[in-house]
Amino acid sequence: MADFHPTILRFDSIDSTNLEAMRQAKAGAPEGLCIIARTQTRGRGRMERAWQSPKDAGLYFSIVLRPAFEMSTWPLIGLMSALAVSEALAKSCDLKVDIKWPNDICVNQRKLCGILSETVETSGGMAAIAGIGINLKHQEFPPEIEAIATAVEEVTGVSPNADLILETLIKTIGQRYELLQSPGGAEHIIREWCASSSYAFGRRVRVTLNHEVFEGTTRGLEADGALRVELDDGRVKAVRAGDVTAVRPAAATWSASATPDIQAFREGLLDMVDEIAAGGTEIYGGFTEILCMWFDDYWGHHPEQLIRDGVINEGEHAILNRFSEKFRKAYPKAVHEEQDLRKLQDDPTWKSVVMAAKHAQLELRELAESEMVRSSS
Ligand code: BTN
Repeated sequence: MADFHPTILRFDSIDSTNLEAMRQAKAGAPEGLCIIARTQTRGRGRMERAWQSPKDAGLYFSIVLRPAFEMSTWPLIGLMSALAVSEALAKSCDLKVDIKWPNDICVNQRKLCGILSETVETSGGMAAIAGIGINLKHQEFPPEIEAIATAVEEVTGVSPNADLILETLIKTIGQRYELLQSPGGAEHIIREWCASSSYAFGRRVRVTLNHEVFEGTTRGLEADGALRVELDDGRVKAVRAGDVTAVRPAAATWSASATPDIQAFREGLLDMVDEIAAGGTEIYGGFTEILCMWFDDYWGHHPEQLIRDGVINEGEHAILNRFSEKFRKAYPKAVHEEQDLRKLQDDPTWKSVVMAAKHAQLELRELAESEMVRSSS
């Protein structure tokens, strides 16, 4: 740690602060060099995605690190960065956040910050770059992330002090990095991450990696930061890449049972919205028929009756119905059973349905939150 001297290099505009940090590292920059830009023209996200970086709407930051520890532990740099961001936002904005594996910072299940850690070969050995993008102000998010993104200003209701966040963040990164290098530090970071993330244990999640999609329940982290996910057959997979999203517990009785549980029916409908919002690569056979029938006398349960029985409330019914109508408009004829919806992924009509599902998801979440507030007051 003796070499760790945070120095800040500021740019008005740059392709990507991560790329600049890599160039600087290759040119011999010591660890602790921080790159900040007001805007990025080629901001980079995980899994080869772009990171929109409008001027002054976010904090675009990268730091050069030259870890002395085993490369097998380097994936923990992303996790320790997430912990550093979490603490910095708590200290500078009084904001409590959640961490979604591996290192998305979320508030109310919407992403507020993303972290991209990369490595670069330099003449002084391998260096690590931790790149952090914090959404400070609401911006025109691309349509596919509008419903799942948020910003500090949006959640705190006050204009954030970017300099204070940056100053605090540089301190918290320095402290966590020092801890990570100390004996027992890696275990400490894992424990702290688990204590700071609602995704660490017992969370039903869907994992998407290229074309592989599976669901399971989270069971903590491996020593290298991989997420342990227990499949329904009891096997445990260690997830080292890909996207993880939360899903409700599977409505096991919903699709197969001859006398379906009425509560599971509701869960099934909500699951379907989640499934489609997530890109819907694993949809039950015949699901479009089900969507087209929606509440119309399905299993003999009329919507009025479902509302009277307290299975769904009027707000949920209205949201689900609006989504169903959009779906029917997009696909007036039912897509036939067992159609592989993966083929539809690039289809604009399907994309409009995915967007509608995201909106429905958001409306359902807001409704649930407002009901929670009402019932607790
Ligand atoms: C993610 O996909 O969630 C990671 C996004 C990381 C974005 C930040 S912004 C600063 C730094 N420079 C980049 O090009 N990317 C990271």
